[in-house]
Amino acid sequence: MKKDFISLRDFTAQELLNLLVLANQVKQNPRQTADFLRGKSFALIFQKPSNRTRVSFETGIFQLGGNSVYLAPDDISLGKREPTEDIARTLSRYVDGIVARVFSHQDILDLAKFASVPVINGLSDLSHPCQAMADMFTIQEKFGSFKGLKMAYIGDGNNMTNSLLIAAAKLGMSMSVATPQGYEASADYVKAARECALKNGGTITLTNSPQEAVKGAQVIYTDTWVSMGQEEETTQRLKDFAGYQVDEKLLALASRDHIFMHCLPAHRGQEVSAAVIDGPRSVVFDEAENRLHMQKAIMIFLYTFKHA
Ligand code: CP
Ligand code: NVA
Repeated sequence: MKKDFISLRDFTAQELLNLLVLANQVKQNPRQTADFLRGKSFALIFQKPSNRTRVSFETGIFQLGGNSVYLAPDDISLGKREPTEDIARTLSRYVDGIVARVFSHQDILDLAKFASVPVINGLSDLSHPCQAMADMFTIQEKFGSFKGLKMAYIGDGNNMTNSLLIAAAKLGMSMSVATPQGYEASADYVKAARECALKNGGTITLTNSPQEAVKGAQVIYTDTWVSMGQEEETTQRLKDFAGYQVDEKLLALASRDHIFMHCLPAHRGQEVSAAVIDGPRSVVFDEAENRLHMQKAIMIFLYTFKHA
């Protein structure tokens, strides 16, 4: 049975912990896995732009001895030139895995349903699990463990928020999410995260107050106010998110040992001040680097998957 990486909701807490162990092994000893994908190819389907996801997957596949085939938005025109299920079936005859960055999450589900090879979610409008796991790996590197930590997410309740909620709750962190009214994270993801948090010793709090959210938090996270595909809403969003910038004044309320995180690309002067993202507590480029190690681990994890 092939295993996909679509949502962190599909994995147990123990499976996510195992993935973190694997990412650490891959990072510490990259030579050990240098042949893991020898003779294997991955198709990378991108409907949206990308720096980190594309480059870290292509490089990671190369470092594992495999080959990647990048398919830009106009190359296969997912869902337009031919049905998604035919793309999934065709690619499965050529390649050993598919990474897809899409608008509609349903496209990832359809690819996974009809492909006979593993499908990895490289971001959809609903979630960004590869980034969230690279972030958990970064948090573990900085703090050693998750228990007792509080993450504050400030800004737009988007794909990043949804994946972070599940990751944090499964790994035993507490999370407080501050968004303007009308920009909350997916209610379904919040409900699932609350159920996980209950089992794993954390709490999930929603608020409209950035000040309340960051109080005592060790991990402060933000993301763009205008995600890919929402460009037409820019003027309205910039108005609605006024007061939600992560700046030094806000961070004075956080735990003194806090770190600042952002999945990037960032917009200095909007969701974060330059002083914060370029300051000493920012770990944004560690997160970016960890995409590489984590995604190599995800590919190995899927091919060697055992329920835990
Ligand atoms: N964080 C992230 O996914 O970056 P890209 O959009 O550049 O891939
Ligand atoms: N929320 C952002 C994340 C980019 C990595 C977007 O979807 O554009």
